[in-house]
Amino acid sequence: MMSQAALQAEKVIGHGGEATTAQNVTNPGNSAEYADPSGEKMKALAWMGKNKVEMIECPKPKVMEPRDVIVKVTGSTVCGSDLHLLHGTVVELQKGDILGHEFCGVVDEVGSEVTKFKKGQRVVASFQIACGECFYCKQKLSSQCEKTNDNTIENAMYGGRTAGMFGYSHFTGGFAGGQAEYTRVPYGDVNLLPLPDDVADEEGLFLSDVLATSWHAVVDTGVKKDDVVAIWGAGPIGQMAAEFSLLNGAKRVIMIDSNWRLDFVKKNYPNIETIDFSALGKGESVTSKLREMVDNRGPDVSIECAAGEYAKGWAHYFEMMLGLETDTSELVNEMITSTRNFGSCGITGVYVGFTNHFNIGSLMERGIRLIGNGQAPVHKYWESLLKMIQEKQIHPSKMVTHRVSLDDLDKVYYKFEEKADGMQKVFVETKWSFPASESSPPLTRY
Ligand SMILES: NC(=O)c1ccc[n+]([C@@H]2O[C@H](COP(=O)([O-])OP(=O)(O)OC[C@H]3O[C@@H](n4cnc5c(N)ncnc54)[C@H](O)[C@@H]3O)[C@@H](O)[C@H]2O)c1
Ligand SMILES: [Zn+2]
Ligand SMILES: [Zn+2]
Repeated sequence: MMSQAALQAEKVIGHGGEATTAQNVTNPGNSAEYADPSGEKMKALAWMGKNKVEMIECPKPKVMEPRDVIVKVTGSTVCGSDLHLLHGTVVELQKGDILGHEFCGVVDEVGSEVTKFKKGQRVVASFQIACGECFYCKQKLSSQCEKTNDNTIENAMYGGRTAGMFGYSHFTGGFAGGQAEYTRVPYGDVNLLPLPDDVADEEGLFLSDVLATSWHAVVDTGVKKDDVVAIWGAGPIGQMAAEFSLLNGAKRVIMIDSNWRLDFVKKNYPNIETIDFSALGKGESVTSKLREMVDNRGPDVSIECAAGEYAKGWAHYFEMMLGLETDTSELVNEMITSTRNFGSCGITGVYVGFTNHFNIGSLMERGIRLIGNGQAPVHKYWESLLKMIQEKQIHPSKMVTHRVSLDDLDKVYYKFEEKADGMQKVFVETKWSFPASESSPPLTRY
């Protein structure tokens, strides 16, 4: 309800006018301005309403602006963030919006002012759309670009805005995503990174989001040598944040979750410790358990890689349902009370708006440094992360449990949501994909 009200308000108020690229181009079928004149059609995954996504057929997008690149998608995936769209917790989605913010592919067409890319080149896109020239872009803080999203609701709610993002609602500019056979990439020279021959799509794809996000969570929250790090949420972001914490010198990492993902962690990262919060004894809490595990004091650094929509208790569940808050404070409070005095806490899981019962007292009295990590600035890190893949320091395909087909992606969304079939990170192939690399799981059809 709130999501649709925000969308209506946006229509009435209008945009801020600061964007230098077209806004609300979430489906090439919505406007002749956006559809390729060849009449070629493509398959894509679209949001059709709360808890409903569908495979659709729509026109291939065209070069609308001179700096556009049209990418033929050879690999894409589903992110924990897509669940916030599916559930309608991220506001301002419109029926028919094409989703997906992590994709790689081959350059299909370039606009007249594109200098870095030619047809046929392999590339990966960043989840955010940046102009490359504004105050934030100059510092590679690409997720906060000032020129690609002029949504007024986001500005009013947050006192500032993020960059535009692929497949992430009109709240972030309204751009069609990469869970499709083609995607239009504005400012292609800026938002695409060439993929070298020795990096397969199954590894390079994750430079779009997961790798930069988890790396940023770790360095931005300030993990240092010999730190003990606690991570809430054992999904792909949490797992990579754990790996990156160790790479940055952490001496122990403890992950907190409540399902089979913890078994996945135990099997794949034997040196990482876990807490299953659903199996805690009477009178025990995550905070008391962490204190007991870490010198009766608690971790030095805590990182939230879950999300504000996942209430643990009835109180927040109802408050959220009744619109009294948009996000639960339970996870953040747990981080604050668990972390040692003067330690730091970072929030990378998505939070949408306002929360009740925030433990500001513990934060203030004990000197906890609470850091909003922000949408991660991918451009700041993706070149060095690519090098780490090439040097085999990291193996992103370790996260991938399934290879699926774009044709089945609507069904995959629901499996992913339920964490069914041991599904974690998927590699989505399209009709343009290269033969599967050695690291790929076999194709599963749904
Ligand atoms: N800041 C960014 O730039 C950025 C980028 C990508 C993803 N994200 C966000 O990061 C979060 C994690 O992404 P993901 O792809 O790993 O998601 P995911 O949904 O696969 O994993 C989230 C995990 O959190 C666990 N969880 C839920 N409630 C919990 C609780 N109370 N305590 C501990 N764990 C709990 C879930 O069981 C799940 O395993 C999502 O919110 C996603 O939107 C942020
Ligand atoms: Zn994501
Ligand atoms: Zn910019």
